[in-house]
Amino acid sequence: MKKLRTWPGLVAALLMLLTTLPLQAAQSDTDIEKRIEQLLSKMTTREKVGQLALRDWGTYSREDMPAIKQAIRDGKVGGFLNVNFSDVDDNAFAELQRIAVEESPRGIPLLFGQDVIHGYETIFPIPLGQAASWNPDLIRRGARVAAREASADGIRWTFAPMIDISRDPRWGRIAETLGEDPYLTSVLGTAMVEGFQGDDLGDPSSLAACGKHFAGYGAAEGGRDYNSAYIPERTLRDIYLPPFKAAVDAGMASVMSSYSTLNDIPGTANPLLTQQILRDEWGFDGFVVSDWNSVMEMIPHGFARDARHAAKLAANAGIDMEMHTDTYEHYLPLLIEEGEFSKRQLDNAVANILRIKLRLDLWQHPYPRAGNAAAREKIIRSDAFLAEAESAAEQTFVLLKNDDQLLPLRKDQTVAVIGPLAEAPHEQLGTWIYNGDKKYSHTLLPALRQIAGESRIVHAPGLAYSRDTDRKGFAAALAAAEKADVILYVGGEESILTGEGHSRGDIRLPGAQAQLVAELADTGKPLAMVLMAGRPLQLDETLQQADALMMAWHPGTMAGPALADVLYGEKSPSGRLPLSWPVGAGQIPIYYNHMATGRPATDENYTRIDEIETGVFQHQPGNSSNLLDYGHRPLFPFGYGLTYSKFRYSDLELSTDEIGADDTLRVSATITNTGDVVATEIPQLYVRDLVGSVTRPVRELKGFERIELAAGESRRVTFSLGADQLAFHNAEMQSVAEPGEFRVWIAPNAEAGLEGRFTLR
Ligand code: NOJ
Repeated sequence: MKKLRTWPGLVAALLMLLTTLPLQAAQSDTDIEKRIEQLLSKMTTREKVGQLALRDWGTYSREDMPAIKQAIRDGKVGGFLNVNFSDVDDNAFAELQRIAVEESPRGIPLLFGQDVIHGYETIFPIPLGQAASWNPDLIRRGARVAAREASADGIRWTFAPMIDISRDPRWGRIAETLGEDPYLTSVLGTAMVEGFQGDDLGDPSSLAACGKHFAGYGAAEGGRDYNSAYIPERTLRDIYLPPFKAAVDAGMASVMSSYSTLNDIPGTANPLLTQQILRDEWGFDGFVVSDWNSVMEMIPHGFARDARHAAKLAANAGIDMEMHTDTYEHYLPLLIEEGEFSKRQLDNAVANILRIKLRLDLWQHPYPRAGNAAAREKIIRSDAFLAEAESAAEQTFVLLKNDDQLLPLRKDQTVAVIGPLAEAPHEQLGTWIYNGDKKYSHTLLPALRQIAGESRIVHAPGLAYSRDTDRKGFAAALAAAEKADVILYVGGEESILTGEGHSRGDIRLPGAQAQLVAELADTGKPLAMVLMAGRPLQLDETLQQADALMMAWHPGTMAGPALADVLYGEKSPSGRLPLSWPVGAGQIPIYYNHMATGRPATDENYTRIDEIETGVFQHQPGNSSNLLDYGHRPLFPFGYGLTYSKFRYSDLELSTDEIGADDTLRVSATITNTGDVVATEIPQLYVRDLVGSVTRPVRELKGFERIELAAGESRRVTFSLGADQLAFHNAEMQSVAEPGEFRVWIAPNAEAGLEGRFTLR
């Protein structure tokens, strides 16, 4: 007969339950630190070093499985990255984790990381496109969808957001950035962290975020990836670091070091960055991971003599986890023995990693969230996620030109759809798509047909892919154009022309696209152009030849329906440029928040190269800071974008014309939709500090808001500007707001707006 539980037995069971509860409910910081101490007190040096090892799945084959399993069993692996188990065994994920949890000495779960950059299987627009939405909520929601999908497969860590500032569209990884501005990148990068990490990192659908690349990677010389970055400390602190600081303040779990050198010191061995700034100044308590192979790359950098030296430099600079290479495994124990790295430093590094593993609550949720294929199927690419991706894409399109209101298209027009990217399921996904699959892409052509009807759409690509130079398709494209009322050219860049290691010196439309557009324009038919690309392109005459131009970036899985809706006016375009669009590559770097110069160029003092007289020593009205051929303005300014409506800005008002150091100024204006369709405007708040102890930018973004207004509707927008938002790093490298005169604008872009003035006492 079964023995009934006695009261004391029940009490004991209850007590046991209570003692395990803190692990199930949200764990307090004190609980976590206690757990870390307990674990550290039991771990051997080998096991500790094991936690610092992030192994790259791509390096292994099926034959390596027994050795990998043994390494996990021995406590020699902390986590894996970019795992694609389907090539080995669908259950390998759970099996490796089971070995770690059940058979390794301390049962510490593995952390699985992946580049979940703009979606997992449901692909959202590339980050630069998402930034064009100027919509933190959209970015937060997109990251949440990605987190829910990736965690279904057991991934709990993503190598995103990339919050490098870049002022160079030649750099292929600009597609992964959130643009050129520190404020916009801070707001949007933080939103991405919030989306990935959710309300609670311990929720099994949350991913630990990883801000990268620390720091200055986006300033690679000449746009060449992995190249040296030279950034003066003030620029570093005022422009490149604020997005990282904002993300750290928002609780971002990890940071990745940069491949590049910053002022001649590799990001993977730079104590100024990963010790002084990140830990001492900002109080970051997550972990720092090296970039893939970046520890060993300090050897070709000429900074480390050999692997041992590289391990010593990285570990002493505060790189907690080593991605892919195994210099820590081989040399840290030795370095400790020889007094070149201390046990305390090792404990610190392990603690930083365990802290995040504990916050992720991996002990409670070690296995893939979906559990089985049927559950996974319900999560991945669900209708709700696809709808989110479509709505996100719709908000990223930037209308740059629209002569005679060619757009939106009308359903009674016959449209000739031409160009290599109208039906390009892979290209529309953009760079960095590990799990994105073109077979799920919704392309443009069927979406247009669905809206306008089969008979209204004729299609002839003209070119097979964006770099194609073969003109054999031109005749069919021209014939299609002849049959149509409007030409819709869909071109730009394939996804492989941006992304890691894919920079370009010539940023014109690749292949024979410019020639095809020129011939199409010669037909005299109205020509609308959609560009899909991971960077702004040099447009030259193509811009004049097109009556309308819309930048669509690489919009992701739902590109087709999203674009078709906007092209046919179901929605008005609502994106704005998150960077300055250069006239040509020779104008780079060109960015709106540049420092004031002694001879600023204006439209009045600028003379074009073809207007300069011959035989003169000095042309009139004199010299200023510009390029004779490209001028002094970008082709389209930061913040720019049109809609199917028009907006009027009026009645700028400042709450006061003088504020003190603890005060907040309120700046308001009325925005009116003067057109006859509903549309979204993004009023932007800019300031200029007129005189400083160091020169100051001609404008700096300090706020923005997305507002949708019905035709004829007016709304008052009010921005708060705290005196602390006027701070910058002064001549002594202290962060201060200096008293003096300021200009302030509420503006539709960085080159326009209503202007006011105030004084900071
Ligand atoms: C190298 C890239 O620079 C980095 O951004 C990425 O996260 C890692 N590889 C891992 O794939």
